[in-house]
Amino acid sequence: MASKLKIKVNGLVHSVTASLDTPLLYVLHNELHLHGPRFGCGLAQCGACSVLLDGKEIRSCVTPVAAVSGKAVTTLEGLPAMWAKERGTAAASPALHPLQQAWIEAQVPQCGYCQNGMLIQAADLLATTKNPSKTQIKQAMNGHLCRCGTYTAIVEAIQNAAKAMAKGA
Ligand code: FES
Ligand code: FES
Repeated sequence: MASKLKIKVNGLVHSVTASLDTPLLYVLHNELHLHGPRFGCGLAQCGACSVLLDGKEIRSCVTPVAAVSGKAVTTLEGLPAMWAKERGTAAASPALHPLQQAWIEAQVPQCGYCQNGMLIQAADLLATTKNPSKTQIKQAMNGHLCRCGTYTAIVEAIQNAAKAMAKGA
């Protein structure tokens, strides 16, 4: 049975109608038209659907929408505003989060399908580990699969983003 719910996504509270056990990913796609998170495996195995929940990476394909009530969801689309808030310039949100800029400069994406989850996991990592080593990055990204093999470029981009963020990007 469908229920009316309020969920906070990318800083805005939205009213949605969904069954409490509907995967968050479906609500993001179908109700809020946010298509950064991708459907990959649907089993919490690949990471394509990742979002941040109160700043920590979760798999939206297996997270019931009711579980995010009262919490803050950030999708790929919300990363620039999140960064603006972190550096205290929320009124002038940049077009891109430093991670997104670094991704472009390192030409990370190939087909692009996994890249949402990679960026979300990297944002989670850099929120707590400001200058991660290659080993720390590989450990953090371990649960995300890329069939195109972009792993080396991802490590480079995360380290470049960390440097840019340290300078205030
Ligand atoms: S689609 Fe959610 S982890 Fe693969
Ligand atoms: S860029 Fe194609 S799956 Fe990762």
